[in-house]
Amino acid sequence: VGAIIGMTAHRPGGTNDRSAARADVVKAVAAARQFLGRRYGRGELRGGCRQQWSRSVPLLNALGRFCKDRGMNDGFPAGLALRHPEPEDQLRVLDVMDAWWAGFQGETGSLQRRLLLPRLFFQHFADSSYLLERDDGHLGAFLIGFLSQSQPQVGYIHFVGVDPTFRRAGLGARLYNQFFRYAASHGCTAVRCITSPSNTTSVAFHAGLGFAVDPSDTMIDGIAIQRDYDGRGLDRVTFTRSIDADGLLTSGQRR
Ligand SMILES: CC(C)(COP(=O)(O)OP(=O)(O)OC[C@H]1O[C@@H](n2cnc3c(N)ncnc32)[C@H](O)[C@@H]1OP(=O)(O)O)[C@@H](O)C(=O)NCCC(=O)NCCS
Repeated sequence: VGAIIGMTAHRPGGTNDRSAARADVVKAVAAARQFLGRRYGRGELRGGCRQQWSRSVPLLNALGRFCKDRGMNDGFPAGLALRHPEPEDQLRVLDVMDAWWAGFQGETGSLQRRLLLPRLFFQHFADSSYLLERDDGHLGAFLIGFLSQSQPQVGYIHFVGVDPTFRRAGLGARLYNQFFRYAASHGCTAVRCITSPSNTTSVAFHAGLGFAVDPSDTMIDGIAIQRDYDGRGLDRVTFTRSIDADGLLTSGQRR
């Protein structure tokens, strides 16, 4: 990261291009987060690696604050723009869901997903929700979230999806980070969300982002399941993650 920041201060040609330098810093922070997450975040790494990861957290947090203070986003790749959704976006999101969920749980799953995203989310929860769009208007990812009215310290992520062609590039994590910062700026100290027990990708994703699975007496395949959580026969895995005052990493968490 230091090398890239240094390079930006001495760009070839001697130009003092501040916006290019800022873009380089954003890229460097995103790359460092991703690299350190991959290298030092895994459960199997211990001792020195863990220590290095913990030591790097304050540096990444400082860089994150640097970007935030200058109104930068979280280093979304070039060609993908971040914005809040509008009511007209609802149909666009519904239209990609079957493909993005790969028909998960068949017709029933498809209907359930569509019913979980009525227009009201795009009308009344837009400030806490995000879309990532390509230059050509193609939808790249979305996150629908809100702040709990009943539990003011809690932010809730209701739905997230990333275009399969952009997966495992950190987009889901960055959208979550965007929401974490929003929730923290409104005084939240925790973020909650749920998923279907059979959505193993979603379970792995939330574990990868430092969410803890809420305990339960019912364990299936080593995962705590909340029976009938969303209605009879609608079991769920529920997650909670603490966030600090900046919505950034706290030591011991991965991103
Ligand atoms: C779940 C989903 C949003 C993840 O988005 P993504 O942009 O691919 O995720 P990221 O690249 O940010 O992954 C962050 C971390 O989550 C974990 N993770 C993500 N996808 C994973 C997978 N398929 N298998 C195992 N771990 C995974 C990893 O720890 C990853 O970090 P790493 O790549 O450094 O190892 C995406 O797979 C998706 O849209 N799935 C279909 C919709 C869905 O199931 N949504 C969730 C329920 S609402």
